[in-house]
Amino acid sequence: MSARGKIVVLSGSGLSAESGLPTFRDSAGLWNKYSWVELASPEGWARQPEVVLAFYNERRAKAWKAEPNAAHRAIARLETGYEVVVVTQNVDALHERAGSTNVLHVHGELAYARGTGRARKRYKIDDAPIELGQKCEEGTQLRPDIVWFGEETQHMEEAREHVATADKVLVVGTSLTVHPAAGLVDSARPDAERALVSLEMDEIPRGYEYLNGKATQRVPPLVTRWLEEQAS
Ligand code: OAD
Repeated sequence: MSARGKIVVLSGSGLSAESGLPTFRDSAGLWNKYSWVELASPEGWARQPEVVLAFYNERRAKAWKAEPNAAHRAIARLETGYEVVVVTQNVDALHERAGSTNVLHVHGELAYARGTGRARKRYKIDDAPIELGQKCEEGTQLRPDIVWFGEETQHMEEAREHVATADKVLVVGTSLTVHPAAGLVDSARPDAERALVSLEMDEIPRGYEYLNGKATQRVPPLVTRWLEEQAS
């Protein structure tokens, strides 16, 4: 165990909801409004790449304008007392913009593009749109660096290793329905302190204390408590 203690934060779209970015499965969630088959699958991309690009171009522009909220900022503050790894399913950059320095994006990032061929080189595009006809160095069409259904999740082994060696695990704003990312919660040590913050949860994973409520209300006091514990 490290002298500073290690915390892993597992976050999902509910964390960015109070920054004005939509979730996926709540009543106003993206997958209640749009078809994930059309917008988040290799089949949808093959059928209508221009529709897929337009969807992510809009989300990229919106995410770029959003500001980190009090929960993102509290999570960044944890680094003053702990070794912290954030494993996020979110494709926005709000953790980094709040000050977190060690963030693994298991579902990719809106701010990057990549080609559609075998080369996996990523290009930082920030808020720029990707247009049909825009190609990577290898000559294939650029696409968002987002993990679509049926594609391989990124950084999973590293993420699992971090969860398994954490003294505390905080899960926030995810319905834990999308695997394999959702399964990370089960890799925590049985003696690790575990908390889950959410507005609504069908099933609380074993060993987790449920802190029901908004991330901006529940995360900052928890962070303050954990920092006080570490200081004493
Ligand atoms: P979901 O929409 O499935 O779940 C969001 C969760 O956040 C729900 O449990 C809500 O109750 C909770 N929530 C909403 N607002 C909140 C708030 N203000 N404070 C705290 N909790 C709140 O979204 P994810 O679990 O993130 O994948 O979805 C997982 C993946 O499904 C996404 O990464 C995305 C999607 O398909 C890809 O795009 C690859």
